[in-house]
Formats: sequence, C-alpha cells, structure tokens
Amino acid sequence: MRISVIGCGYVGLVTGACLAEAGHDVVCTDINAERIKMLNAGEVPIYELHLGEILDSARKGGKISYTADIGEAIRAGDAIFICVGTPPKESGEADLSAIDSVARQIAAEAKSSKLVVEKSTVPARTGLELSRALAAYSRGGNVRFRVASNPEFLREGTAVYDFFHPDRIVVGVEDPAAAEELREIYRPILEKQFSCPVHKGAGACPAGPKAEFLVTTINSAELIKHASNSFLALKISYANVIADLCERIGADVEEVTHAMGLDPRIGTQFLKAGLGFGGFCFPKDVQAFIHLAASVGVDFEILKATERVNKQRIERFLEKIHKALWVVKGKKIAVLGLAFKANTDDIRFAPALEVVKKLLEEGAVLAASDPEGMTGARTIFPQIAYHEDPYEALKNADAALVCTEWDVFKKLDWERAGKTMARKLVLDGRNLYVPGKMREMGFEYYCFGRA
Ligand code: UGA
Repeated sequence: MRISVIGCGYVGLVTGACLAEAGHDVVCTDINAERIKMLNAGEVPIYELHLGEILDSARKGGKISYTADIGEAIRAGDAIFICVGTPPKESGEADLSAIDSVARQIAAEAKSSKLVVEKSTVPARTGLELSRALAAYSRGGNVRFRVASNPEFLREGTAVYDFFHPDRIVVGVEDPAAAEELREIYRPILEKQFSCPVHKGAGACPAGPKAEFLVTTINSAELIKHASNSFLALKISYANVIADLCERIGADVEEVTHAMGLDPRIGTQFLKAGLGFGGFCFPKDVQAFIHLAASVGVDFEILKATERVNKQRIERFLEKIHKALWVVKGKKIAVLGLAFKANTDDIRFAPALEVVKKLLEEGAVLAASDPEGMTGARTIFPQIAYHEDPYEALKNADAALVCTEWDVFKKLDWERAGKTMARKLVLDGRNLYVPGKMREMGFEYYCFGRA
C-alpha cells in the first residue's frame, strides 16, 4: 500500500521505516526541512536501535522517500499516518494544534479519498474532532476522509523490535472498511511473513504469541493508549512508595517487588524503584489523562498521586545527596546518565536533567557521561564538562550519581573508578549495584529502598 507519514520524530520515523520494511511504499514528511535534508542524505536524526539499518535498506530499495512538501506527501498515500507531537500545555492538557494544522493541510491538499490514521497520542474524542475538522476544512468537497485511531505501544530503545513483535494492534474505526484497510497494512506483521531486522538471518521471526488485532471505536482506542501508559506509570510510582517504606522499615524493595511480580496478576515489569519515570510519554500522558478525566467530571485522584510520587523522587534523591555530601556548593559531582532511560538519546523530561538543574543552582561542579544523551544536554547545560568515557567523568569526583540504567554503567569497574575519585561515594538512582559489594569495595553507597 501507499502510505504517508506526517512527522519524522521517534514515532513517525519508526512507523515509516517499519512499514516500508514490511513491504509498503512510504513517503515521510516533516515541518523541519533540515531533518528531511538529513534523511535524504542517509543520516538518521535520532538514536534508535536497528532504525538506521532499515531506513538504509528501505531507501536503497526505493520503499521510502522523504519530502519537505507536505502536499506531495499527502497526495502520495492512500493512508496517512499522523505522527506529530502533542506536547503538554501549561495546564497539563495536550496541545493538539499540530494535529489541527495537519488536518487543515490534508483537507487542502488531498485529491483522492484518504484513510487518516492518528498515531500521535491524543486524548479521547480527538478522532471525532479530527473527522469534523477534515469535513469542515474541505468545505464539502468531493474527497472523502475516513478517520481511524491506531495507537502505538512502542518503547524508545526497543521500538523497532516492538513494532515487529506487538502483543496487540489496536484500531479504532468508524466503519469496518477502515479496519480492513488497517488489517491489510499490518498483515505482514500479523502473519510474521518476513524476517524482521532484529532477527535477520534467522528466517522468519521466532514464533512468539500472535498479536491480537483489536477493532474498537475511535474513543476506545484513544482511551486504551492513555489508560495503558498511565497504568504503567502508576505501577512505577507504587513501587517507589514501596521503596520508601522499605527504607523506613528495613526491607529490600528488590526482594519485595520481585516476589510481588511473580504473581501473574501483577507481573514483574515496571516495578523498578528509583528516580522515577521521565521521557516524552508517561509524564505528559498522565497529565493529559488527568485533564481529560477532569473535563468530563471524573476526578482521577489515583493518577494525581502517581504524578506527585514521581515528582518526589527527585526530591528524595536530592535529600540523599545532601545527607551524604553535606554542602553541595563547590563539590565535584559526576553524573552518569542523562537520557530518560537507557538505549535512547532522548533527554526530554529526563529525571537526570532535573537533578542536574538543581545541583547547578546550588553551585556544584558537574561532569557528565551518557552514551547518547550528551549532544542534547550540551545545548541546555553548556557549563557541564562532558566525557565520552565515564571514567574520565569520575576522576577527582566527590560523588558519583547514577541516573540512567545504561549497560555500560551496570558493568562499570568501580575498583578502577574508585582509585581516581576524590571520595568513594556513589548515589545510585537506578539500583544498579549490589549494596554489599559496593561497600566491600570501600564505597559509601546509597540507593532506593534497600538497606
Ligand atoms: C512508554 C510505553 O512503555 C510504551 O508502551 C509507549 O508506546 C510509549 O511510552 C509511548 O507512549 O510512546 P517509553 O516512554 O519509551 O515507552 O519508556 P518506558 O520504557 O515505558 O519507560 C518510561 C520511564 O519509566 C523511563 O524513565 C524509565 O526509566 C521509567 N521506569 C520504567 C521506571 O522508573 N521503572 C520501571 O520499572 C520501568
């Protein structure tokens, strides 16, 4: 099928690349002409595992192209995937102005019928508004628009893997024909017809459980997305409160959450205590969901608590830092990890940046290391010394803060690092190390919810 993708961010690029890999003809566009230029030159503007390989092979195979001309992209596709940003407003409400602007352009530029698929995370009822907007902006012209919601459940860092191994594909539609069109688009993935880039060389992808193809109303599909992300965020905050309790009572949060998670009704994932959740999804989606609920008279108290607990993680970490260091001003502190989680260069709403901001305000002297997050951080905090090599960042440091769970940090040789640090002090915001072992090596070691 011919598919247009509007928005070449984390969602749009992965969607476009994976649909091209699945055999469709994809045209991508973005408001940022510089980004299109980069893509046309074969460069990948974001860090995402396997994305470079599939974009490269799709480009060489003529399955994907990029244009800064949104009209050209709109006319090229039978289905148009809207993958533009929906950032939070001051109030927490999702800002849908980019969706509205795309609707106006689709209505103006389309010359034939289109299936308009909203992939951006949006509050419930956006699809209905989008449908009305398309009708209004096309002023009763002959071109027919059908709207569908197809929320994504991709995690940054494993987005390509997730795309080819979904546990569910949700399509919210107004009419059965739209659902069939979307089933056709996803057929190669549903039927595991080809070897995905993650399993290249291994024939077809290993037969895992088949993805469920769920057809719902548009409102339900939109709600499924917000309800899923918010529930995962809630789970993390729950684990973090358990961690606080463990500290007061003298228990170990890892032991507690592991045992809890073995109950299949609970599950072991998303119970990792620490600095809390960040990124461009959970914080804004929780806020938008609270806002949506309030707008229809439902008080989502439990999500407000989720958000509150998450904000307190930063304060809790800073308390630990103050307790250990006493005066922060003038201390040299090494920050390991800037990205909001491992395997991404994304620093949006990263807990690490909150910590960095507060420490800089207090006059700390910071050195930082992150495998992919330093480029973005440099523009926000030019006063920090950045090091590719974490051991360089740790040299002469009065303390090391671990803020992101990168593998390189998990495997760090602390014996070696300790020899060059001014003080053997580690504050671990992600519970990466065994406390006993760190202490055996002579470190003062602080983490979350463990003795
Ligand atoms: C999240 C969802 O997991 C995806 O399903 C969804 O598609 C995506 O948002 C989206 O809406 O686009 P993502 O933001 O990439 O994906 O990151 P997660 O892996 O979910 O992690 C979110 C944050 O929670 C990170 O800061 C991570 O460090 C933190 N986290 C995660 C914890 O603090 N504890 C945990 O146990 C798990």
